[in-house]
Amino acid sequence: MIRHFLCLSDLGSQQLLAVLDDADRFLERRNQGTGHPLRNKAVALVFDKASTRTRLSLEVAVVELGGHPVVITSATSQLGRGEPLSDTARVLSRMVHAIAFRTADESRIKELMQYSSVPVLNALTDQGHPMQLLADLQTVRRAKGRLQGLSYAWLGDGNNMANSWLEAASLLQLRLRLACPEGYDPDAQLLARARAAGADVEVVRSPREAVAGADVVSTDVFTSMGQEAEQAARLKAFEGYMLDRKLLALAKPDAMVLHCLPAHRGEEIEAEVLEGSHSHVWDQAEARLHTSKAILAWALASDE
Ligand code: CP
Ligand code: NVA
Repeated sequence: MIRHFLCLSDLGSQQLLAVLDDADRFLERRNQGTGHPLRNKAVALVFDKASTRTRLSLEVAVVELGGHPVVITSATSQLGRGEPLSDTARVLSRMVHAIAFRTADESRIKELMQYSSVPVLNALTDQGHPMQLLADLQTVRRAKGRLQGLSYAWLGDGNNMANSWLEAASLLQLRLRLACPEGYDPDAQLLARARAAGADVEVVRSPREAVAGADVVSTDVFTSMGQEAEQAARLKAFEGYMLDRKLLALAKPDAMVLHCLPAHRGEEIEAEVLEGSHSHVWDQAEARLHTSKAILAWALASDE
């Protein structure tokens, strides 16, 4: 069976933890070499949207695992001129061993998966950002020594990052409070699924309520890629949701601050918080490399 990675549920709880263990091994052995599980393998990194970290981490991960990354952006390929994804998928499948894809609507990555005969990894859609969550979970587990039994807060938009946090909560039975303004709630199905799976998850309107007593506080931009026309309305809707020192003071004294980046200082996060002693954002960014290796190794491992 082809190992596509659309969302964290494609791994399941046990495999998710195994991928994080693998990512830890990649982190710890970085300077001693990590073997070459991707030797002679090419991986296409296809971007409909901009990226710094995802492109960088995947590209370096493929190189360090002995493979060859090929970056394709819509703007500089036939994708941008309307070549169907179904055709692109079949051509890529004849030449590369895996494809990572960043796009807007999830239907596009599903179409790519349908026509691809090699694994496809979700490098962000409007609905989820599972590769980022792998990095976030690795960062928390390395700092706190565990994932379960902690209190997690999410502040801001209920879109891709919040949805992937809900999935993590589902798989690992986490306590998660998401503070989102009305009209910006996360996916209702994912919320229901997390509750059914035994996770203690609530969507609240008050950022103070979400952050109170939290061990981990995460946020993200208020205006995601593709939503630029809504910026003014969003800034108004998200008033009071900025993670600042006053809000963070309500969390546990040793609370961690996460942000997947890029950050807009003074908008969703105060500069002093992003740069402050609670912030783990640079470890979190580095974790993208180690977790990219782990998920590539998982996707390319054959089912025995
Ligand atoms: N966090 C993240 O996915 O960053 P990029 O958009 O730079 O890839
Ligand atoms: N929510 C953001 C995440 C960027 C990594 C966006 O979709 O633009």
